[in-house]
Amino acid sequence: MGDYVISYRIILTGVGSYLPKNKFSNDSLAKFVDTSDEWISKRSGIRYRHFVSDNETTSEMSYNAAKKAIKNAKISKNNIDLIIVATTTPDNTFPSTATLVQKKLCINAVSFDIQAVCAGFVFALSVAKSMMSDGYYKNCLIIGADSMSKLLDWKDRSTSVLFGDGAGAIILQRVENINDVYKDWGILSSVIHSDGQFYDLLKTNGGVSTNQKTGFIEMVGKEVFKHAVDKLSTSLEEALLSSNKKIEDVDWLVPHQANQRIITAVADRLNFDINKVISTVKYHGNTSAASIPLALDKAISSKTIINGNLIGVHAIGGGLSWGASIIRIGKPKIL
Ligand code: UT7
Repeated sequence: MGDYVISYRIILTGVGSYLPKNKFSNDSLAKFVDTSDEWISKRSGIRYRHFVSDNETTSEMSYNAAKKAIKNAKISKNNIDLIIVATTTPDNTFPSTATLVQKKLCINAVSFDIQAVCAGFVFALSVAKSMMSDGYYKNCLIIGADSMSKLLDWKDRSTSVLFGDGAGAIILQRVENINDVYKDWGILSSVIHSDGQFYDLLKTNGGVSTNQKTGFIEMVGKEVFKHAVDKLSTSLEEALLSSNKKIEDVDWLVPHQANQRIITAVADRLNFDINKVISTVKYHGNTSAASIPLALDKAISSKTIINGNLIGVHAIGGGLSWGASIIRIGKPKIL
């Protein structure tokens, strides 16, 4: 008798997000940064961003987003056996923010952080997919959360106007693909890349083992812009190829929300209808690892993205690190 090989699918069943209450318009930023609403809107499409209050932490934002995702997935939190938090702005240098989220949720789950800056969420998707497909972990909570305001140098107007704080979470569930019921559902493909030769294009000027400071963000904006358009497009194409899909099959693109000009340029390059691209950058700026799940939650809660839609997600950040994934949202109705 041959071995019975179980075929698993990793499906996405819940999304949630959280934005801090403190909301800053471009005009309110212009009161303490040498900038204007006109410059920020024209160059980036950003109009608002939210900043954590003094005592608000990345783990708290994560916890708030996680509770909503768990509720939307209609699962018991006790069934979660894996927590991955993608963040560049942990509460403490160690232990991981994920263990704090685990503590707040009062559950038993393997918990750790991933650091791939703005690409953190797509990296977490890839790691979770591998760990779950191996057959051990069944229900994973992925959170993308960042308090980017803590890394901003208010004297640097070229970076300080672009970022915001927030958190987004999703629930992934492992299902057995009996009779091919789940054949075309869940994470169909996931690709990630890094190239450290571009390390200096986007980084903080501090760190634990260099100067024991957290540091501020430094960015060569024009160069990052060019890499972003190129690598977001090629990684999405790679993810499409790997899932045997064409761009025409995609219902919605949910890109990293860094700059509306990048979002538009990528849609042009992929020859994809901009009306089918979810854009929330206007409302919260670049929230790093939180940006894709924040956009996804807004689109799903407004019923723009619905059960069964095929979506493409892609992101790029410091490293440079980038990646993409093709996902069919939800689960078949017959179950
Ligand atoms: O998450 C991934 C990481 N981030 C990104 O994807 C961001 C990638 N880069 C970008 O989005 C764009 O490069 C920026 C939005 C950062 C900048 O846009 P740009 O069109 O490349 O502008 P620039 O850097 O060439 O700046 C043009 C001018 C400069 O003045 P001069 O030298 O032409 O007189 C800047 O000093 O705009 C000036 N400037 C500002 N003026 C008002 C730069 N920042 C500001 C500001 N307000 N906040």
